[in-house]
Amino acid sequence: MSQSPVDASKTAAWAKLRAHADGFKPDLRGWFAEDDKRVRRMTFEAADLHVDLSKALITPEISTTLLELADEVGLAERRDAMFCGERINVTENRAVLHTALRAPADATVMVDGKNIVTDVHAALQHMYSFATEVRSGEWKGVTGRRVRTVVNIGIGGSDLGPLMAYEALAPYRHGDLEVRFISNIDPTDAALKLADLDPATTLFIVSSKTFTTLETLTNARLCRAWLLDNLRARRTFHGTDEEAVARHFVAVSTALDKVKEFGIDPANAFGFWDWVGGRYSVDSTIGTSLAIAIGHDRFAEFLGGMHLMDEHFRTTPIERNVPALMGLLNVWYRNFLDAGTHAVLPYAQLLHRFPAYLQQLTMESNGKSVRWDGSPVSSATGEVFWGEPGTNGQHAFYQLLHQGTSIVPADFIGFANPAYPLTDGDTDVHELFLANFLAQTQALAFGKTKAEVRAEGTPEPIVTARVFPGNRPTTSIMAPALTPSVLGQLIALYEHITFTQGTIWGIDSFDQWGVELGKQLAQQIVPALGDDEEALDEQDASTQALIDYYHQHRVQ
Ligand code: F6P
Repeated sequence: MSQSPVDASKTAAWAKLRAHADGFKPDLRGWFAEDDKRVRRMTFEAADLHVDLSKALITPEISTTLLELADEVGLAERRDAMFCGERINVTENRAVLHTALRAPADATVMVDGKNIVTDVHAALQHMYSFATEVRSGEWKGVTGRRVRTVVNIGIGGSDLGPLMAYEALAPYRHGDLEVRFISNIDPTDAALKLADLDPATTLFIVSSKTFTTLETLTNARLCRAWLLDNLRARRTFHGTDEEAVARHFVAVSTALDKVKEFGIDPANAFGFWDWVGGRYSVDSTIGTSLAIAIGHDRFAEFLGGMHLMDEHFRTTPIERNVPALMGLLNVWYRNFLDAGTHAVLPYAQLLHRFPAYLQQLTMESNGKSVRWDGSPVSSATGEVFWGEPGTNGQHAFYQLLHQGTSIVPADFIGFANPAYPLTDGDTDVHELFLANFLAQTQALAFGKTKAEVRAEGTPEPIVTARVFPGNRPTTSIMAPALTPSVLGQLIALYEHITFTQGTIWGIDSFDQWGVELGKQLAQQIVPALGDDEEALDEQDASTQALIDYYHQHRVQ
């Protein structure tokens, strides 16, 4: 496929969208009243997901033009190039094949003359048999006791995915095994997570694609020292450090040589490949902690759900292709209605880390100012993704969603069946919960007019304060229940939405060079914090003053 992206802003469709946007007057009340087929026309099924786009701020003409835009930039061709393993991550000269991680064993995806699906399934089997050993108690610590706590040490994609899914799939977890996640280089994270653990029953998984990440390697060393000190302090262990590390440390990485250098037995290392981006890697062996928590069958269902969404994205015509439509809609909001942020509001407490997971997926992928050929972008790109579960958010920030001066497109995610059905007297609490989901999307879409506020007998001076303008766009996503498969479908849905937006903007959604400068500078600042005068002199005036403050206030 061509190395230069089509400049979306120079297409005929973009000009038409600009014309639609000029003087655009959204009118969800009117659109619903005039068009009794709107909901049917704008509701789609993708695997188990039921996606209602009818409360989006688009007309049929805008929908058609967005499809023309997809056509003009070659969305379908780029999608096909990704699935086939073309090196579409040009700045890193890599294929982008997270979709191969969830392909069935009999699929074929060729990279450099090799069917990588065979390797993927061999790595999965290695991970599954280890997970089974840990779950059954067959895997023993160095003092002969079974594992009770697994600690995943990783950050970014090597943390957020397994952590989010561990939380989301709580009802499917092994009852006698806990997983904890240490990510931050703030020593508080390791200190608190380790405080009450028994080293003899703790297993560490060092998860790092590159095995060079400062936070992860520092935390891994802290944990290794903690393990050895505490094993010896309890006087039940008389072996060598190597013996202890071999039974209490495993690693997940693409850099198996570095794993060995760290002192972890390569037999206890789980590999993956450079064609998997960190933020797309929960479905690789980076999910080892999750596989231990939920077991082989549930992990396989999780991958199966992702594959169902992949197949939907790969094979469904764009006009019915849910990730493509949601991505195009986001482009409309971002580039034509000036929406700088996008909320994701799961009505499922178990999805409380899903917005944080999506922040890395979307913002590390699409927060770019140059296109994949190095030329500057010609429009705004990645919006800020954020969110919290409902109903908590309703009592915090929904005020701005309803009556603020900017529009914030919001995705509401809900389930027909709760993970834990409870009643309050005769009331089904899940129905109360769902009523809130529906009420919020209704209020955002249709608002409340002055006349309606007055009709309630509201005193005139506060009428305008109580008006809801409506025409605040939402997408409602529902599924039967939050199963491993449905979670996989949701993740893949957002991966492909992100891909669609990146393709329209002509950016490489799979690199992350923007994280490098801060890492380099931190290395130069460390000596300045530690009293190296020369290093301090090299800093800018503000940084010097902040370091001075630190020097004055630290307790020696
Ligand atoms: O610095 C950003 C990043 O490279 C992410 O893309 C990645 O998920 C994270 O750091 C962790 O990287 P690694 O898995 O190599 O430790």
